[in-house]
Amino acid sequence: WPFHAPLVHEINRLKRERNAVILAHNYQTPEIFHGVADIVGDSLALAAKATQTDADVIVLAGVHFMAETAKLLNPAKTVLIPDTGAGCSLAESITAADVRLLRERYPGVPVVAYVNTSAEVKAEVDICCTSGNAVEVVESLGTPRVIMLPDEYLAKYVATQTSVEIIAWKGHCEVHERFTGDEIREFRGRFDELVVIAHPECPPDVLEAADFVGSTARMVDFVADRRPPRVLMVTECSMSDNVAAASPETEFVRPCNLCPHMKKITLANILESLRTLEPQVSIAPEVAERARRSVERMLAVKP
Ligand code: 13P
Ligand code: SF4
Repeated sequence: WPFHAPLVHEINRLKRERNAVILAHNYQTPEIFHGVADIVGDSLALAAKATQTDADVIVLAGVHFMAETAKLLNPAKTVLIPDTGAGCSLAESITAADVRLLRERYPGVPVVAYVNTSAEVKAEVDICCTSGNAVEVVESLGTPRVIMLPDEYLAKYVATQTSVEIIAWKGHCEVHERFTGDEIREFRGRFDELVVIAHPECPPDVLEAADFVGSTARMVDFVADRRPPRVLMVTECSMSDNVAAASPETEFVRPCNLCPHMKKITLANILESLRTLEPQVSIAPEVAERARRSVERMLAVKP
């Protein structure tokens, strides 16, 4: 912490000067999450809270699709992403042209896009969802079948929670797809009374081996409400570091899969982007209008 103090101090000073807020995803490192963020949460909370700020500048300490979502909801504000290379394997797994082909193949079937997609993909779909509201969004459409993209495992998990038939795309999160059911069973063998909570981007055998499945915010709430003596969070490993700081009585068993994209955001590049007001997120107006509609429809179902 003392090592980070000069950067934290300067970022917090510049935030006031620029009338800026920092939105940070739950996967950001503790010095960002606890040191400089104004608003923290899962993708859903970051999208919803982006609509409520009266700041002039939003710095998105997260990945590029999150910054695009914040820009869609705040077209008049300056939205900064400290490293434009902070991508996402899910967002990269599908293009707008792929969605148009899916629509030709399944005429009349509505398309739900996980927020982990580009603005161009969001512009082609009927509605967005996050892992925090996917079941409610799918059921809000009132149809017997929906297409859910791009995360195959989230789609499969949603299919276990609803009677709506789900047609999935085969995208995967490069962080969560590495966990295995065997790994979870091995942890259970090594640690007594282990409570396993997993993100729905994990493969089905991992989710079957877990005690609870939910978005990153629901995982945080689970630990705060239940206060388990020992917990394994099957997700990106900075989550455990952040939650552990608020839950000293819980022991965190830490399998460590880092998201290389999330880790591109650092205190140094946050400071640089506040100094220069670059790199800014911009979205072509004809794409933005249609993509915004998909995000706003989602927020109308469950913010
Ligand atoms: P949530 O925070 O919405 O659960 O998403 C996890 C994730 O992988 C974001 O990139
Ligand atoms: Fe994308 Fe997975 Fe990284 Fe989230 S953790 S940003 S889904 S690659």
